[in-house]
Amino acid sequence: MNKKMNITFIKKSKGLEPLVMITAYDALFAKLLESSADMILVGDSLNMSFAGKSDTLSSTMEQMLYHTNAVCTGAKNTFIICDMPFGTYTDKKVALKNALRVFQETNADSIKIEGGEDKSSIVEHLVSNGIAVCGHIGLLPQSVRSEGGYKVKGKTKEEEIQLIKDAKAIESAGAFAIVIEGVKANVAAKVASSVDVPVIGIGAGVDVDGQVLVFSDMLGLFEEFTPKFVKKYMNGASLVKDSISNYAKEVKSKEFPSEKYTY
Ligand code: KIV
Repeated sequence: MNKKMNITFIKKSKGLEPLVMITAYDALFAKLLESSADMILVGDSLNMSFAGKSDTLSSTMEQMLYHTNAVCTGAKNTFIICDMPFGTYTDKKVALKNALRVFQETNADSIKIEGGEDKSSIVEHLVSNGIAVCGHIGLLPQSVRSEGGYKVKGKTKEEEIQLIKDAKAIESAGAFAIVIEGVKANVAAKVASSVDVPVIGIGAGVDVDGQVLVFSDMLGLFEEFTPKFVKKYMNGASLVKDSISNYAKEVKSKEFPSEKYTY
């Protein structure tokens, strides 16, 4: 069994082997991911792939605490990050109150908040109060409505300069790692080399310090849409549908339960 990572180890891993982060929302999958993931993110993406909503914005603290507890129970030996839902870190006081709930009501090792330079004073306040914080810059899913869609970043020189400023501000505020999402690969590489903390990419190319994918995307279970950056390592939806269809056929034909499955 691998030793559970901590923030000191994660920070020191910069420039070494890429870090593997995957999302999980329940104990069952968290346990299955444990042997390969360095870190598990309980992402607010669960609001889409698990709760069936069209974006992450209606995710709540109660929902995140429930799922984080389940993941912590399933993956006791893995570093776990709980995503802070939209509207739960609007200012320092609100952010600390909600982040403390994560640390007091679950065994999560850290929280993650979306935003760059604009959120650095909140990150600093959380870190100075004992909360380990992972940043999230670039395409911010919680800004989908205010930005009018999911916008890939780093397409202009101004965006490149801002992304580097964002990463540096979040690092100076004390974040131990930064997720960078939906950013042109050459720009993400520059962002990663401009800070000393690991930068974990999603849709940000290979020249960063690790990768994160949403488990239901990479297992091909989520069928609503597939972003360009998602590689499906399994066709989960077909496998599940075929298995359920076989079960249904066998129930109808009374082939199941056969003698073998009967007391
Ligand atoms: O909520 C989530 O799953 C995330 C990833 C997209 C990084 O924030």
